Amino acid sequence: MFRTKNVEQSIRDTEEPEYALKKTLSALDLTVFGVGVIIGTGIFVLTGVVAKQNAGPSTALSFVVAGVVCALAALCYAEFASTVPVAGSAYTFSYASLGELPAWIIGWDLVLELALGCAVVAVGWSGYVRALLDNAGASMPEVLSGTHDGKFGFDLLAFLLVVVLTGVLVAGMKLSSRVTSVIVGIKVTVVLLVIIVGAFLVNGANYRPFIPPSEPSSGGSGLTAPIIQLMIGFTPSNFGVMGIFTAAAVVFFAFIGFDIVATAAEETRLPQRDVPRGILGSLFICTVLYVAVSLVVTGMQHYTDLSVDAPLADAFKAVGHPFWAGVISFGAAVGLTSVCMILLLGQTRVFFAMSRDGLLPRTFSHVHPRFGTPYRSTLLLGLLVAVVAGFTSIEELAELVNIGTLFAFVVVALGVIVLRRTRPDLHRSFRTPLVPYLPIASVLASFWLMLNLPAETWLRFGVWMAIGVIVYFAYGRGHSRLDRRPPEVPGRAKN
Ligand code: ALA
Repeated sequence: MFRTKNVEQSIRDTEEPEYALKKTLSALDLTVFGVGVIIGTGIFVLTGVVAKQNAGPSTALSFVVAGVVCALAALCYAEFASTVPVAGSAYTFSYASLGELPAWIIGWDLVLELALGCAVVAVGWSGYVRALLDNAGASMPEVLSGTHDGKFGFDLLAFLLVVVLTGVLVAGMKLSSRVTSVIVGIKVTVVLLVIIVGAFLVNGANYRPFIPPSEPSSGGSGLTAPIIQLMIGFTPSNFGVMGIFTAAAVVFFAFIGFDIVATAAEETRLPQRDVPRGILGSLFICTVLYVAVSLVVTGMQHYTDLSVDAPLADAFKAVGHPFWAGVISFGAAVGLTSVCMILLLGQTRVFFAMSRDGLLPRTFSHVHPRFGTPYRSTLLLGLLVAVVAGFTSIEELAELVNIGTLFAFVVVALGVIVLRRTRPDLHRSFRTPLVPYLPIASVLASFWLMLNLPAETWLRFGVWMAIGVIVYFAYGRGHSRLDRRPPEVPGRAKN
């Protein structure tokens, strides 16, 4: 259960021609890739939700808190990604350091969290597209517009988006990264537009009070309250200083994705240099943009009046600029496409890596002879996500995605410390500074955000993980390729 996969073996596995991915990406590709997935539903939708419900104008501080947590985690990810440049991200890292069961748990966690994240974004995308269709006078029938207020509906647009993107991914990485670059350009332009045009429309009065006084939360008792408030006997409340952290645990979703840059390490030309650059670069750009956007939006409209569906566009509408509102809606709809695609890519790569190791059926790790992509795992997961996106309404799912990702951060940070001890000899082109203090700080920071998530999210996460452990003992443990190899000799040449 705690057998580890040696790092040289991980790298050699990627060189077996039948299972090798093409190495075509540069640092710039990775940064574009990172920004492409990072900016999404988080900033376009959740900003309004948390400003209205949890933090008011101090939502900007929540983004700083979440950004700091991610920066700490990013410094750990970067060391791992530059040491073990293999598809699978946190999964691969923990296989090399913590052992097979922890690796399985993290892989299971990642596949499902990325899948749900992708579904969340697809449904968000569908909302924006419907808003645009409404503007053009062509509404979708209600039954095909997704579930609202407990009333069931199939989300046709979200379903179709995921199906089309699955096809694009099967057809090859190069095509998808080109499409991504264009989309990222549009998305960043729209975000800058919000900041620059919006800055002229800010009314200083809306910032008072910047941190609204705390008030008892209406629905926030029992299972829906942040677990930390229940643990230390707080009356569950919104706003105030605790509200900043509650909001941070939610807007954390807006940063998810920088870690996925690490999953593309195996497809990078110079992973040792380019992966850390790609991860830290995209994270920094996004943090600056998020803080600016949230300041502008809460300055344009009083936080109590913000919309929770399309807050950025609606703030412009509210101050009498419907034209800009339309442009922003369009950009958001385009931008969310790339987020959805990259989340999908990330999860298929984790699945691919687990299958290549025999922990999931090996058939899923065969690479398409012409496209060089893991087409079977892409098709399987793409179709599953499409169905989830079609049938699910999503608010709580974002929190579930967050807890899973934060959990992965904890494991990666621990992995950095462990691997420094067990394999001090390995070449690390990027070294996390201040080990073990920085990784420990990363563990504590991630855990703190997890504690600010609702008790019911913890419960769902626990159930989810329990199922994963059962699957591991029923299948993965007996089929693991580690069982079948001759003992490893570090540094041995390939076959
Ligand atoms: N960070 C991505 C988003 O905000 C997942 O949608």
